[in-house]
Amino acid sequence: MHPTSAAPSSRPPWWRGPEPGRRLLGARAFVTGAGTQPGGGPIGIGEAIAVLFAAQGARVAVADIDRDRADATVGMVRDAGGDAVAVVGDLADPETNRRCVSEAAEGLGGIDTVVNSVAVTAGSGSPVDVDLDEWDRAMRLNLGAAVLTARHTIPHLRAAGGGAILNISSIAATRGHGSGAYAASKAALGGLTRDWAYLHGREGIRVNEILIGHAYSPMGDQGGPEVRARRRRAGLLPTEGLAWDVAWPAVFLCSAEAGWITGVELPVDAGTTSTAPYAVSLLNDRDPT
Ligand SMILES: NC(=O)c1ccc[n+]([C@@H]2O[C@H](COP(=O)([O-])OP(=O)(O)OC[C@H]3O[C@@H](n4cnc5c(N)ncnc54)[C@H](O)[C@@H]3O)[C@@H](O)[C@H]2O)c1
Repeated sequence: MHPTSAAPSSRPPWWRGPEPGRRLLGARAFVTGAGTQPGGGPIGIGEAIAVLFAAQGARVAVADIDRDRADATVGMVRDAGGDAVAVVGDLADPETNRRCVSEAAEGLGGIDTVVNSVAVTAGSGSPVDVDLDEWDRAMRLNLGAAVLTARHTIPHLRAAGGGAILNISSIAATRGHGSGAYAASKAALGGLTRDWAYLHGREGIRVNEILIGHAYSPMGDQGGPEVRARRRRAGLLPTEGLAWDVAWPAVFLCSAEAGWITGVELPVDAGTTSTAPYAVSLLNDRDPT
């Protein structure tokens, strides 16, 4: 059952919200690229989403190409008292994707919530010297895996009477970034988000997207402290964004709280894309820390 706005018995009859800490109670979520990176680096976006969804009452399928990484996230969920299963394989491969979704549906007793987080960065952006193998890889994974996952999960969402799909994108989809294949794949994901929202809204399936800024996750872990500080200074807030800062809005967009929201792109970027780069440079002149 997808989380609904049914009134919990401890609340007055007009109450339409979930119990605190149980915002995804009853959800069965398929989260791609949700494995834990080895070596104790920063927590991943899919990983944090899987852990937080489980902490909010969802049962979670941790989908990743790497068995150890998937098992590690399942272990984190279970350590926190949640419920998760690992499904392992290359999600860009049509037959493997179908098998992973099928195993997840069996393990969870259905699927009503989907998070497409798996992606890779993709080298240089200039068409003059772009590596065509890298281009293909980015398109197959960043875009193709999301399409395949939607293709195979939507029948389960229909069977559940509706559900939520959340695509994890990047501000590179809307701002120049020097990463052509990555930017193009993420921009196309925005097109798909709106199109799927249109196509499946009347089935009770909501489709939304998060545009992540320069957060500190395994993908955003290139460079040392100076690079991290520069990435933080691209935004308006004094703090560095972590995967948890993305996972909380993901909970919201997949919960009944967002039951009338579909087809939107939500920037989660400390205001980076809300402001002019020149104005940010003035802030940084005043406060260079
Ligand atoms: N960190 C940032 O600054 C930032 C900014 C914008 C967007 N994002 C987006 O956040 C998402 C996740 O980023 P992250 O840093 O957590 O990434 P990550 O590298 O930690 O996670 C990727 C996971 O996907 C798995 N994977 C790779 N290929 C796979 C395949 N073919 N099939 C299945 N699993 C596969 C990997 O094993 C890994 O566990 C991506 O969509 C990324 O574009 C991140």
